[in-house]
Amino acid sequence: MSHRNPDWRGVLARFDAAAAAQPPSVLAAELLSARGHPEEAVAAFRDLLETRPADRRLLRAFVLHLARAGRSAECEEVRRQILELEVSELGIGPGDAESVGGFLRASEDGSAAPRAAPRAYVARIFDGYAERFDLHLEATLRYEAPALLFEAVAASDGAARGDGASPWSVLDLGCGTGLTGTRFRHLARRLVGVDLSPGMIRKTAEKGLYDELAVSDITDYLRGCRERFDLVLAADVLGYVGDLEPLLSASPPVLAPGGRFAFTIEEAAGGAPDGYVLCATRRYRHDPGYVRRAALNAGLAVSCARHAVLRHEGGLPVAGVVFVLEHATASRGRGAGAGGPA
Ligand SMILES: C[S@@+](CC[C@H](N)C(=O)[O-])C[C@H]1O[C@@H](n2cnc3c(N)ncnc32)[C@H](O)[C@@H]1O
Repeated sequence: MSHRNPDWRGVLARFDAAAAAQPPSVLAAELLSARGHPEEAVAAFRDLLETRPADRRLLRAFVLHLARAGRSAECEEVRRQILELEVSELGIGPGDAESVGGFLRASEDGSAAPRAAPRAYVARIFDGYAERFDLHLEATLRYEAPALLFEAVAASDGAARGDGASPWSVLDLGCGTGLTGTRFRHLARRLVGVDLSPGMIRKTAEKGLYDELAVSDITDYLRGCRERFDLVLAADVLGYVGDLEPLLSASPPVLAPGGRFAFTIEEAAGGAPDGYVLCATRRYRHDPGYVRRAALNAGLAVSCARHAVLRHEGGLPVAGVVFVLEHATASRGRGAGAGGPA
């Protein structure tokens, strides 16, 4: 039996001939780039961009080519164009364009990240996501944060297990479409939801789950809040907040005696020098040690810190930690504070 190699050169030649016969395409530009014809590849990309100037996929392919070819000034210029396009496609107004552009850039090139995702960015992203959010999270991302929060809260309190204690007043920070509210509703004598995205709040309102809903930034809400809650929740929200100090220090005044603050964080693998890091996913990840220190500074003790898989992205698990915090004074008597492994 013959083991002759297939005629791969012949196949490539036919492939090239076919590519040359096509209208200008990304494939042709990439072939030119891969075959060591950087100038011709640039010309092909530029031809393509004349007809598709706002095609971000094409622009990203061009950036890769320019980076490979060491053409850093042009590469930078095209990167800037991509960010501008994204900002404008998000419908960000001129007043927020710079901050949102800076945030997106920092997520890509590791430049200094803002302390939190710009509010306009969060609102626009989630407004656009509201209609398909529930299905996407539960069916595609196998979203577990509400159930994990529930388990962590239940583990530290009999009432959540249905042991007969009186229901709580519950504040759901970054409530989104109410997936977490759904999980906790039966325990809540009063359930309040807060979110930056009017679209998410509208979607939640349709479900009639919450006693009160507010469109607000969560830290602003806590600072202005005159009510006390037995339980404050933030499921999968702190990915949009890097610096947790302002949020955590605003929370003790809204906690009723014995009240708790339960939330999830995505874990920064390998730590983070500032305690948090903005990732290419455009979400912040936190170092659990930083969260503990920030909690302590805010006068909160860690009564639970559990490692968990929060959801899946591209089929891969997203690792995080579920925290339950309580007033440091309240926890002393119960021997809490060590709080598990994180
Ligand atoms: C991934 S969703 C999670 C929603 C909900 N907690 C759940 O478990 O389904 C994150 C939500 O947090 C909201 N969010 C992010 N940053 C916020 C902020 N600073 N203030 C208020 N809401 C915020 C977003 O608008 C979005 O609805």
